[in-house]
Amino acid sequence: MATPTSLAPVLSSHWDAERSWTLATYEANGGYAGLRKALTQDPADVVAAVKDSGLRGRGGAGFPTGLKWSFLPAPDGGPRYLVVNADESEPGTCKDIPLMMATPQVLIEGSIITSYAIGCHHAFIYVRGEVLHVYRRLLRAVEEAYAAGYLGKDIMGSGYDLDITVHAGAGAYICGEETALLDSLEGRRGQPRLKPPFPAVAGLYARPTVVNNVESIASVPAIVTGGSDWFRSMGTEKSAGFGLFSLSGHVARPGQYEAPLGITLRELLDMAGGIRAGHELKFWTPGGSSTPLFTAEHLDTPLDYESVAAAGSMLGTRALQIFDDTTCAVRAITRWLEFYAHESCGKCTPCREGTYWLKLVLRRIEAGQGTMDDLDVLLDTCDNILGRAFCALGDGATSPVTSGIQYFRAEFEEHITAGACPFDPAASALFP
Ligand code: NAI
Repeated sequence: MATPTSLAPVLSSHWDAERSWTLATYEANGGYAGLRKALTQDPADVVAAVKDSGLRGRGGAGFPTGLKWSFLPAPDGGPRYLVVNADESEPGTCKDIPLMMATPQVLIEGSIITSYAIGCHHAFIYVRGEVLHVYRRLLRAVEEAYAAGYLGKDIMGSGYDLDITVHAGAGAYICGEETALLDSLEGRRGQPRLKPPFPAVAGLYARPTVVNNVESIASVPAIVTGGSDWFRSMGTEKSAGFGLFSLSGHVARPGQYEAPLGITLRELLDMAGGIRAGHELKFWTPGGSSTPLFTAEHLDTPLDYESVAAAGSMLGTRALQIFDDTTCAVRAITRWLEFYAHESCGKCTPCREGTYWLKLVLRRIEAGQGTMDDLDVLLDTCDNILGRAFCALGDGATSPVTSGIQYFRAEFEEHITAGACPFDPAASALFP
């Protein structure tokens, strides 16, 4: 399988076009060709094409998208739903928001094609509550799509009907977990449900539901137009296609870089102007703060699901937070744990209590008031969260702690023996 290191951007191809978010600009750049083609096909063929493409969920877990669609039970005459997870909140993860701001129509087109493929007549886009600008942009884009006949009754004369509702959450990280999202959408407090049953079997209003990430759905029009072989010609055999890589932190030119899966951080840094001048890479996250840390020894690890896992982490959301030699690892990890402790929904004890205690112990180590035993307390607490929490939030919270101690134990110990943080926070300027 070819593994090109660069390609013409697909998702971000006309983000720089004037008023890129309008329907007119989207159509002028080939928009809605995928829907036109899909509506001439049998829905099962659209599912097969996405399955054959090898597209894996871009929300972090990497579950095969077409396979998820095919898990829906046979139609029984009742409703089935598509819910787009636009609740992007993972620290460092910032790809779906720019995508929806730049080209909301590609998400709407992808949602229509997906809904047609799975036999859904009412789709929902659940967007994070704090991003009011994205919510407004999506509302306007949906209005434009209705006015043009892409939504509503008898779409493009095909006889197929679809409504889309854009719903704004209230700003809780846990609502990005798909079953908490469904509870929130139903008007309840957002907390994860027990799985199985998976949403594919019993989701929104206990009906069969496909929950997919924004970037996954936005990739569908190009797959329908370009074909699954085209998509598979990029990336690696098991991690096909392209994706948005979000570089943040101590990088000369932070931003979104679209590239085939399997690209390395070294290649991405070449595009992004490298680490900020005069400094060295110290550590980074391959896929947001819930994925174990990487260091400079992983600069050449291909960023595909298998290679990242083999190197001890997870590809996750491809949120590459880059930290140079001025950064205190203990301070960074403490900030992340403050986030997880704040966002834990409280439903299960390991996560609710565990993230709270991790935060407290990290805070005292960072302040120079820890003891050597605290390192064992941290690892023991992680051990008691990992695999015992109700959802992935708890597991994710342990990643920076365990990997941080693995790579930077000496730095933790230095805080304890010196009785103070050896770093100047102003030099890093990331964690005031
Ligand atoms: P998961 O692996 O449990 O599930 C992934 C998807 O596959 C889900 O939609 C699930 O319903 C489906 N699935 C799995 N097995 C299935 C089966 N047997 N039948 C039917 N469907 C099945 O992972 P989860 O908990 O949904 O997500 C965890 C990931 O989320 C993490 O790896 C992390 O990277 C990512 N994440 C992303 C965030 C963001 O802001 N984008 C925030 C936090 C975490």
